[in-house]
Amino acid sequence: MEIQLWRDLLDPYQLAIDELMVKFKFVIKEYRSRGMYCPIEAVNGRVKKISSILEKMRKKNLDFDDIEDGIEDIAGIRIICQFVEDIDAVVNMIKNRTDMMVKTEKDYINNPKASGYRSYHMIVYYDVMTINGTKRLKVELQIRTLAMNFWATIEHSLKYKYRHNIPEEIKDKLTEAAQAVVKLDKEMSAVRDEITDAQNLFQQKANLVAEILNTIENLYSLANKREIIKIQDEFYMIYKQDDIDKLRKFSRELDFIAEGYRAQGI
Ligand code: GTP
Ligand code: MG
Repeated sequence: MEIQLWRDLLDPYQLAIDELMVKFKFVIKEYRSRGMYCPIEAVNGRVKKISSILEKMRKKNLDFDDIEDGIEDIAGIRIICQFVEDIDAVVNMIKNRTDMMVKTEKDYINNPKASGYRSYHMIVYYDVMTINGTKRLKVELQIRTLAMNFWATIEHSLKYKYRHNIPEEIKDKLTEAAQAVVKLDKEMSAVRDEITDAQNLFQQKANLVAEILNTIENLYSLANKREIIKIQDEFYMIYKQDDIDKLRKFSRELDFIAEGYRAQGI
């Protein structure tokens, strides 16, 4: 038997996870910086532990050379959404990307598992560049709501604790909890518009405040101190009124003032 070089096998998968984390976090950042609601709430990634790979090899009767063909979740990304509707948006976003190609999809939301597990799974092809050239990898994407994730995390821990033989009465409780998750997701969807409106407003206000303070800071090198203090005091006064329209108006006026100073400065 050849020496089994785990690091050589797993390093490209770690690269894929690192890259994909940057990419999905950038999606969140892009939405937020535009003051828009983001269908992705959070993203996690991991490379499967060697002990878990060994376990799966045993179960599926795989040799070291079969690992990459036989195990599709060596690299795993979990995308957490607030609402069920966001999952469709994320799935479409992934399908429209040119840096990953969907191999297979499993919809455990419309077809939950017997355990009560719900989640949307995609296996995608993703290319990484190594010193040996381009390597095409498979990555498992799990897309689920916060509530679905809560349930899956608890159920996973119990499965581990009972070594996959969860006692019947606990299984029943998990089934009940799974039904409660379906209900919770539905109830949250019903107030989705209201929640996303509030979150958008919050984000827009945060962006506006950051923008105004940045402009004031830039004025330090252009305007005199007294003038800047006056502007700053006016900002705090308007901020306290908690009216985004007034804040928007102030921001426009400030931009105008800053533009004037910049023109003078030239
Ligand atoms: P494996 O189960 O991973 O061998 O592959 P598969 O082809 O059966 O894929 P499946 O879609 O069933 O599961 C992939 C992954 O989804 C698992 O590794 C888990 O992370 C997750 N998953 C699937 N079923 C359950 C479940 O009943 N409970 C929990 N907590 N997670 C699950
Ligand atoms: Mg399975």
